[in-house]
Amino acid sequence: MDPRTPTSADVLVIFGITGDLARKMTFRALYRMERRGLLHCPVVGVALDDWSADTLRAHARAAVEATGEPVDDAVFARLAKRLSMVSGDFADVTTYDKVALAIAGCLNPVFYLEIPPFLFGRVVDGLARAGLTGNARVVVEKPFGHDLRSARALNEQLSTHLQEWQIYRIDHFLGKEPAMDVRYIRFSNSIFEPLWNRDRIEAVQITMAENFGVEDRGHFYDPVGALRDVVQNHLLQLVGLIASEPASGGADGFRDKRVELFKAIRPADPRHYLRGQYDGYRDVRGVAPDSQTETFAAMRLHIDNWRWSGVPFFIRAGKSLPVRATEIRVIFKRPPTLPFLPRASAPNELIFRIDPAAGVDLVVQAKEPGANAARTVNLSLVFADELAEAPEPYERLLSDAMHGDSSQFIREDGVEQTWRIVQPLLENPPPVHTYHPGSWGPERVDALVAGYPSWREPWLPPPR
Ligand code: BG6
Repeated sequence: MDPRTPTSADVLVIFGITGDLARKMTFRALYRMERRGLLHCPVVGVALDDWSADTLRAHARAAVEATGEPVDDAVFARLAKRLSMVSGDFADVTTYDKVALAIAGCLNPVFYLEIPPFLFGRVVDGLARAGLTGNARVVVEKPFGHDLRSARALNEQLSTHLQEWQIYRIDHFLGKEPAMDVRYIRFSNSIFEPLWNRDRIEAVQITMAENFGVEDRGHFYDPVGALRDVVQNHLLQLVGLIASEPASGGADGFRDKRVELFKAIRPADPRHYLRGQYDGYRDVRGVAPDSQTETFAAMRLHIDNWRWSGVPFFIRAGKSLPVRATEIRVIFKRPPTLPFLPRASAPNELIFRIDPAAGVDLVVQAKEPGANAARTVNLSLVFADELAEAPEPYERLLSDAMHGDSSQFIREDGVEQTWRIVQPLLENPPPVHTYHPGSWGPERVDALVAGYPSWREPWLPPPR
């Protein structure tokens, strides 16, 4: 646990500021933080590219505009003033001396490593040698390893110079406000928690569907696959949110509960794991012509605790599926068939839509007008229609890291537990089955839910 009172950062140093993630996500997040008055310190970029501060500023502006974010000149001018640049090779010790010089006098730096994980150790070493890690917080991006062993090795490497409270591991799903909403809907209402258990719930389905392929990321994706790319991290974190116990608060309160839940999840069983690959994937640049990598993964998980024993958690994630939608669907047990109800009613369902147009939907049965039958109706709420626009994940997470709030970041034990859960699937992967782009994955995905409620089509917002 962070032994100190959280302090606000007095400088943000971004390693890899000229890279892809910064272009797509970080500048926009910084711009939006500036607009909301949440940015109070200088921002120093570090990269090999020999850029002047002006080049960085022009790049930042173009990057924000390219995301579609409307740019207010006065807000951008404030952000531009904060930006400066240190150019240097991460392998060169003098780079860290230059960083030290650029942030001289700052007591609480945040270092954000938007760089490949194999460089984490080198950069943290360099920072430590330059005497910069004492009070620092270090934000790192996934992947945290590619299996349990490599995750442990990476954690050991980071902990050579840093204590756990200093390490902020980002999983941007935890920064999605609609994911945080799960906790609020569960615990700020008294009507749901009494139903949240194996007596009332039949199954939980988590879907992360993307209606696009791997595009230009073949080199990155082919050695990784869907299981490592989104299931071990993003989707297991959603399981953590939907299934963990209420926490007493504080950064470690929430994380303790998530880890406690992960510990209760049985190692995944390869017999309940299906891998798919969309037709045409092997033609993507950077993908091996005989690639066995899955672009679709579906599985059944079990949680061995008093609350969830016997309730299957089904997860499916894939590229080139019919829609883009991420949701958690809690399917309740069917009501009994009664004499005055001529046919068995459908079960109630509570759906948390994470993306797009976040919201909740309660599926209930009502009377079909003019007939003696029940009909399904939806009590739906789209958050943005009723509440204000939510911050973007990176905006929220960077802001939290800069204020020393680590509750939405992943702790070392959380990383290791999630790898432990999927490790049997990595060690004994079943064969990969092809599927048509635009379908819901290989046909046999239905067999995975045999005996349980069938896969549901995601709840989608109406077309605009
Ligand atoms: C990333 C994965 O972590 O998450 C991508 O590497 C995936 O493959 C992306 O597309 C999805 O994130 P979001 O926020 O767009 O749903």
